[in-house]
Amino acid sequence: MIFVPIDNICEGMVLAKDVKIYYHEPNNVDLLKEGYKLTHYNIERLKKLGSVGLYVYDEGEADRRPVRILDDAIKVEAISELEKLFSSLDRNPRILEDSALYGINDVSNKIVDSILSNKKYMVNILDLKMYDDYTYHHSLSVSVLSAAIGLSLELDDKALFDLSLCALLHDIGKTKLARSLINKPTKLTDEEFEIIKSHPLRGGKCIVKNELINERIYNGIISHHEKYDGTGYPFMVKGKEIPLFGRIIAVADVYDALTSSRPYRKPASPSEAIEYIMGANGIMFDPDIVSAFLRKIAPYPINDYVKLSNGKIGIVIRLFPENPLRPELKIIGERNVYYNLYEDHNLYNIVITQSL
Ligand SMILES: [Fe+2]
Repeated sequence: MIFVPIDNICEGMVLAKDVKIYYHEPNNVDLLKEGYKLTHYNIERLKKLGSVGLYVYDEGEADRRPVRILDDAIKVEAISELEKLFSSLDRNPRILEDSALYGINDVSNKIVDSILSNKKYMVNILDLKMYDDYTYHHSLSVSVLSAAIGLSLELDDKALFDLSLCALLHDIGKTKLARSLINKPTKLTDEEFEIIKSHPLRGGKCIVKNELINERIYNGIISHHEKYDGTGYPFMVKGKEIPLFGRIIAVADVYDALTSSRPYRKPASPSEAIEYIMGANGIMFDPDIVSAFLRKIAPYPINDYVKLSNGKIGIVIRLFPENPLRPELKIIGERNVYYNLYEDHNLYNIVITQSL
């Protein structure tokens, strides 16, 4: 169901909610029921009565089920295992017990299985967001996004598994820091920022002895805040000298953080976050990783409704990995009108302004 402005409503559209049309006398009311096919007469009447728009079904809506990359059961299991892992670190603050990682290990396998069995689909970040607790939910999203980027880079299954585990654990060093500092709603002082900057190495230190951790997982954790131009932390390494997992997690981490609601700001839309990533290409992020990310992450997933700068509303029917910000749309309320924002140069000045 979608709300369509009255000027875009056309004959034959099917109502998704009941509508009352009042005539001159108070008792003279027509009730158009849900499922009713609108006629030209009804539409004109509604316009005269000042209706601003109607809820209607889109054609073929029943067949349009959004693709869910990650099953809800896996999300619940992941959050529960992350909770267990973090509380195990509270009990034994210096080193992570081997047993605490088995559950997380299992979750990584399931994430990679889901990514592999949905190979042809792009990932919709909003589909991953369902929990309030930022730390656990962020770790899970970064893991799925990282595995999706890894798949786009054609990493083998073992590497994808290691990458997914590394991303689940990337911020584990934050458990060593005060929660008030992690969630501070105002700007950090220089001293506080120095403490925050210690979390990659603290994280590496507490997992390094674990039997499930290999060198590339360790390297990914300690390098996820390095920047491609060498201005990151803790070691200020640059370019391809930054370990591959660190370069991948850096992109996934920033994308998920920007699209999440934080105490000090509202979430950016997926498209705004993608524009930010594209803007920092080659500065914060490795261009090869950004390309792999763009091939796999959908700011406007298939079946998403979007508003255009010319006021029209469209449904996303096709994506172009070369430019995910300009998909092909079917325009709602106009019969057989399609906008291919990527290939049709006549539409060059039309942009998507909002995801509905
Ligand atoms: Fe981090």
